[in-house]
Amino acid sequence: MTTNDGTGDGGSRKPWGGRFREDTDPTVERFSASIDFDKALARYDLRLSGAHAAMLHAQGLLDGADLEALQRGLAEVGEEIENGTFPFDPSLEDIHMNVESRLRERVGVAAGRLHTGRSRNDQVATDLLLYLRDAARAARRGLHQLQEVLIGRAREHVDTVLPGYTHLQRAQPVRLAHHWLAFVEMFGRDADRFRDLEARLSLAPLGSGALAGSTLPLDREATAAALGFAGPSRNSMDAVASRDAALEFLSDGAIAQVHLSRLAEELVLWSTAEFGFVELADAYSTGSSLMPQKKNPDVPELVRGKSGRTIGNLVTLLTVLKGLPLTYNRDLQEDKEPIFDTALTLRDSLEVMAGAIATLRVHSERMREAAGDPMLLATDLAEALVRAGVPFREAHEAVGQIVAHCLEKDLDLRALSREDLRAFHASFDAGADELLSLDRALEERDLPGATARGRVMAALDAAEVTLADARRELDAAS
Ligand code: ARG
Repeated sequence: MTTNDGTGDGGSRKPWGGRFREDTDPTVERFSASIDFDKALARYDLRLSGAHAAMLHAQGLLDGADLEALQRGLAEVGEEIENGTFPFDPSLEDIHMNVESRLRERVGVAAGRLHTGRSRNDQVATDLLLYLRDAARAARRGLHQLQEVLIGRAREHVDTVLPGYTHLQRAQPVRLAHHWLAFVEMFGRDADRFRDLEARLSLAPLGSGALAGSTLPLDREATAAALGFAGPSRNSMDAVASRDAALEFLSDGAIAQVHLSRLAEELVLWSTAEFGFVELADAYSTGSSLMPQKKNPDVPELVRGKSGRTIGNLVTLLTVLKGLPLTYNRDLQEDKEPIFDTALTLRDSLEVMAGAIATLRVHSERMREAAGDPMLLATDLAEALVRAGVPFREAHEAVGQIVAHCLEKDLDLRALSREDLRAFHASFDAGADELLSLDRALEERDLPGATARGRVMAALDAAEVTLADARRELDAAS
């Protein structure tokens, strides 16, 4: 028969050893261990333990000497983790048991009082919310940094004109600033989503125990406040069973990564010889091990490729949660790797994309040349007819025939005289060269949100103000 006095000297080193007669199967130990990844929660777990110990003392559940010993022990363990000397032990499963065991080595029996009124279920749920709070703020910071870079590059390229595309077919000319400000909008909404998530991270599970609370007089308000929560969670079963805040984080992360992927795809496309719109800096490209002439856009390709894992991470956790009965089930341990992976993937992707955009060489002449395709002005020709009172459908039909005529005869749309145009519709009162120009196409799109110079300048100013406000809000919260 084995004994277990909680000191680790009994037959089983597990904290639940009392009920057990045999050791865990070694394969099961390896199979169930999460320490390799949940060590990322260490600093949150230690912060939580500090707050919990202080509360136990205030509630008369821990004497002053034990509190002091625990505080000293937690600080020492924190140092070991920071400087990489903490002896992580996979047989101790997870970060919670690793920390507790190490505490026992450092401060003795006082360590055995730390888990009073606490379960790993409410502990890990609380650690996770603390992690998500930091990760969501880090994501916002990274998004803001990329927005700043895009706004800066957009300012340089107010007068750089390129074709805007639909269906990847040249559609209408736009300013490059206008194009990049579209991404500034997307990344702004992404940051807003991470901000809005904080409302779902605001109530602390700690004090919910395994699932039903505790018979001990815990002060849940105190620990919640000490950890920066607005208050304790309202239902102990929900608190230990739910991971929808994590789902939301993964969803926000996947959306942001998909936006990054679309920007990345354009860098890949635009840096082809076929487009020739941009060239990535050497620092953000790689070569081929075989073909000496190649300069490959691996960085944006990887950003694009990594969107796959962030989408997968969301689907993974949705699948883990679907069909889980209340409350805690060990399946929930599978929440961590997707969360950590999305947080790190997004962080790195934002950083490399900011660098790639900041150092990107823009071939403005190539862009303007592509935008100079007169066919991009066909809509404007139809709208000239509309201004003369022609119904749009009729105008569209007439200009469609003009375009077909030009393609057939290999003519430049702008070379058509007033008479040429009137052969297709009697309402034309000027030649195409008078009606159409690239500059007019840009300047006449003078509506809120459109690509006229004044509108784009105003949009740049507005984007800067919005970004500064968002950063101020984030700094105030952090
Ligand atoms: N490592 C576990 C997890 O991440 C901690 C909670 C364990 N709770 C339990 N009842 N086995 O979910």
